[in-house]
Amino acid sequence: MCGIVGYTGKSGVGKVLLKGLKRLEYRGYDSAGVAVVQNDGIYLQKKKGMIKDLEPITIPSGNTGIGHTRWATHGKPSDENAHPFKGCSGEFAIVHNGIIDNFITIKEELIEKGHEFSSETDSEILVHLIEEYHEGNLLQTMGEVIKKLRGSYAVCAVQRDSDRIVVARNQSPLVIGIGVEENLVASDIPAILDHTNEVKYLEDGDIAELTPSRIRIWDRKGVPVERETVEIDWTHEDAEKSGYEHYMLKEIYEQPKAIHDSLLGRLVEFDDVDFNSYDTRHIRLISCGTSYHAALVGKYIIEELAAIPCTTDLASEYRYSSPSDLTPFTILISQSGETADTIAAAREAKQRGCKTLAITNVMNSSITREVDEVIYTQAGPEIGVAATKTFTTQLIVLYLIAMELGLNNKRLLRENVQEYRDELRRLPRHVKVLLDQSDYIRDVCDKLVTAEDIFFVGRNINYPVALEGALKLKEIAYIHSAGYPAGELKHGPFALLTERTPVVSILVKDHTFEKMLGNIGEIAARGSPIISVGDEDRELEKLSDDMIVIPSVPPLFSPILVNVVLQLMAYHTARKRGCSIDKPRNLAKSVTVE
Ligand code: AGP
Repeated sequence: MCGIVGYTGKSGVGKVLLKGLKRLEYRGYDSAGVAVVQNDGIYLQKKKGMIKDLEPITIPSGNTGIGHTRWATHGKPSDENAHPFKGCSGEFAIVHNGIIDNFITIKEELIEKGHEFSSETDSEILVHLIEEYHEGNLLQTMGEVIKKLRGSYAVCAVQRDSDRIVVARNQSPLVIGIGVEENLVASDIPAILDHTNEVKYLEDGDIAELTPSRIRIWDRKGVPVERETVEIDWTHEDAEKSGYEHYMLKEIYEQPKAIHDSLLGRLVEFDDVDFNSYDTRHIRLISCGTSYHAALVGKYIIEELAAIPCTTDLASEYRYSSPSDLTPFTILISQSGETADTIAAAREAKQRGCKTLAITNVMNSSITREVDEVIYTQAGPEIGVAATKTFTTQLIVLYLIAMELGLNNKRLLRENVQEYRDELRRLPRHVKVLLDQSDYIRDVCDKLVTAEDIFFVGRNINYPVALEGALKLKEIAYIHSAGYPAGELKHGPFALLTERTPVVSILVKDHTFEKMLGNIGEIAARGSPIISVGDEDRELEKLSDDMIVIPSVPPLFSPILVNVVLQLMAYHTARKRGCSIDKPRNLAKSVTVE
């Protein structure tokens, strides 16, 4: 889950590394560090805490260096466990992302051979292995070192008095940025966007060497290979806060554009995947966290529009489920495309003989190599740890898939699809209307700021939206909150309702509306403050302490609008509580450990 950046060229390595690391901080923020190559050694600066804690630092001038921002796996966050690592001789330095499964055995062997370790990490073995095997050529040494490893790694190594960066990847992302008289390497695209939009994605088993003027790549058999050069359409402004106080707020406000971009070219004909060539009698949707909530909404959408039964699974559970229930078509949803559990689930699904489709936001991410088909959401880079615009665009793609399936199996007529497409086309405008209510939503959040427990309730397609609202509030505002199907509260959680337990209730005018009104009445009778989000209604307004009205859309499309309100609620509540909104404690953007 850590972020890695490497640079070789003449633009002032210190600044490039620090800027790159700031762009990667969403991958982990326990500690950070940089190593800069000098003629007589390697300068190293590393520290527990965020990148800003590294500053002010005076990095000596140099042309080549590597940097790292960490999310601790082996060894607590500390100065010692921060990357980069130098070995005993000080000639080499490395940064690593991933987990080396057999590091204990290797470490013991190295200690026996006289190596002295300064950290508790698995990563440090890499630099000692390099020292152990080095016979004059760092590239060949890297080839020898990775033969010893079991596990996942994206590793970058530098050597004293050399402008080369040698890198290797297995199951952890690594992308090379092609510059002019400079080259870069990083775990993620945002770190290199200031320098180039042309990249090469490394494959598992690849080793590469970068100098300012040359990039060479070898595959796992040691054969020189050309990896395709890909043009990235993200800009460096996309990766900046652009005047917003937080990335999360910027990303919430980017949703009209993200919806528009994800629909672009897909409304007249949606031909990303030819579903006719797959057995789609039953569909399984698998994912984690917010993406799992998108899957839950997706189940309602697909069952409604295509009448195809859907099963949803958390990726971390699916892997251990019984393989007897064979579902031919499996959709994996992952914003980052790097979530270890979801990738493992994709492999498992293939193993079970299923056809697999990934919905992801990140081009060429690891999951795209594991599946038969890929559909990209077009949300642009999402830097805030809390997923916002990517959830919205995942739903957009699920609507498009559902319509296509509905057309294929004749559940929908062309004219129905046309009406739904028109609804989708109008969504950006509706979202803007809600964004304009941000100040009002901020004031409503006064009721949430001091609460210790908050419930989110909804029914039917808005039940998963309640789950998502609760997750967002927990994640960034650190308030315990739970999402419930409204009908379930009376089966237990009612015991927790008091005048100090606000309930955020989602009510749209579908076939559950009357039942929901009844549920809200029961909650109001227990004295809990009620904040309602949904369609305008007199009766509902009377029962609610506060009411946030969404623009009128068919209930099927309400999750996107309701969720924008819940995102703003989480944001404003977290801000009032002074929480670290873009980098909530203990979390990282992509969860690459199982
Ligand atoms: C949501 O705000 C979270 N940051 C988290 O639940 C996230 O959705 C989850 O880790 C899955 O990530 P993915 O979509 O990149 O696979």
